[in-house]
Amino acid sequence: MASSTAAAFAPQTNDLDAFWLPFTPNRAFKRAPKLIARAKDMHYFTPDGRAVIDGLAGLWCVNTGHNRDPIVAAIAHQAAELGYAPAFHFAHPKSFELASRVAALAPGDLNRVFFCNSGSEAVDTALKIALAYHNVRGEGTRTRLIGRERGYHGVGFGGISVGGIVNNRKFFGSLLTGVDHLPATYNREQQAFAKGEPAWGGHLADDLERIVTLHGASTIAAVIVEPMAGSTGVLPPPQGYLKRLRAICDKHGILLIFDEVITGFGRLGCAFAAERYGVTPDLLCFAKGVTSGAVPMGGVIARESIYDAFMHGPEHAIELFHGYTYSAHPLACAAGLAALDLYRDENLFDRAKRLEPRFADAAMALKGLPGVLDIRTVGISAGIDLASKPDAVGERGYAAMERAFHDEDMIIRVTGDTLAIAPPLIVSEAQIGEIFEKTARVIRAVA
Ligand SMILES: Cc1ncc(COP(=O)(O)O)c(C=O)c1O
Repeated sequence: MASSTAAAFAPQTNDLDAFWLPFTPNRAFKRAPKLIARAKDMHYFTPDGRAVIDGLAGLWCVNTGHNRDPIVAAIAHQAAELGYAPAFHFAHPKSFELASRVAALAPGDLNRVFFCNSGSEAVDTALKIALAYHNVRGEGTRTRLIGRERGYHGVGFGGISVGGIVNNRKFFGSLLTGVDHLPATYNREQQAFAKGEPAWGGHLADDLERIVTLHGASTIAAVIVEPMAGSTGVLPPPQGYLKRLRAICDKHGILLIFDEVITGFGRLGCAFAAERYGVTPDLLCFAKGVTSGAVPMGGVIARESIYDAFMHGPEHAIELFHGYTYSAHPLACAAGLAALDLYRDENLFDRAKRLEPRFADAAMALKGLPGVLDIRTVGISAGIDLASKPDAVGERGYAAMERAFHDEDMIIRVTGDTLAIAPPLIVSEAQIGEIFEKTARVIRAVA
């Protein structure tokens, strides 16, 4: 029973029962916990001091590397100066500074920034802005949202509704209504072992025309896609795909939303994937890398015309009924500004671009290892599909993650039997070699 006695406040550091871990097999974890105590640059350290190389930049977020001094100092300074200020009706100076600097990194007229605290909130925010935008312009019939199979857009009800991962959807009822999905862009027969954007599959964007024909453009608010689908195993967009999607959206007055929660802040060698692909969306979701994972933060960058559409009515009246207690949190803004300084001063986006060929070669060298069905690379990220065991999908992938941590001192990500590797952008050429050599040993061990 809960109690407010002193005993109830006493730390019980060896007790693993209370914490229900997210997206984790809790019983297996608590039998053999993988604990991380501290971190620096490319490495984590376990409580007993073992150095573990980070092959996943935290969770695709620590793009500058861990615990970088300028970010640590900025957070400490901010905590001492202003730990919290509301963003409803009031604001602190760094929120404007960070918004301007994030906007300056985005292409075209994407220059109005709405802050929240995570990728999931960014997605729900973008979907709500899209719906409200049509509403305030007198096109309130546009309520349908289009996602894509194998898409991951976080875990809010909006995100799982437009997302396309069955286990993230099937337990949670009817989700949002009026949602359709484009087909996934991955086809192993046509695309296996492609470096970068596969040549086959651009035509899959045309499926949007089918959905428009079925429902009528006047009912469709927005299409949301990850430019590169990260969480389902690094699926780069087929050549020309995003441009075709943009053209069809333009033709029918449908907003295009890029979920750049993973691809933002250098992962693909540019500030945003929108730049790499020469396609400007109407709304762009970001999170993770904006603070290099040091403080939770997310946001949506909107085109100026979308923001302007809301700026009507009496000046004392709120224009968009949406926001979070921690929108533009001072610690997150301070961390964000320091992270952007590091990206700029250390040229980390260019560095990722320069390292991409070396990274892709090192990943592709695993071709031919037992059970490797496909390898995909783009920017500083790689997905490796392992053959599933009959009747035990995911078991080999799970074994690979365990083996990597316990025997190779490395963290990688697995989804099912797909391994994902996406280290911080400060990774050295030698460390790229090290990461894929360790991965090769892991793959052999779990074959
Ligand atoms: C593309 C994409 N969107 C949204 C999210 C959700 O972000 P968060 O976990 O911060 O809510 C993720 C997380 O990996 C993501 O990859």
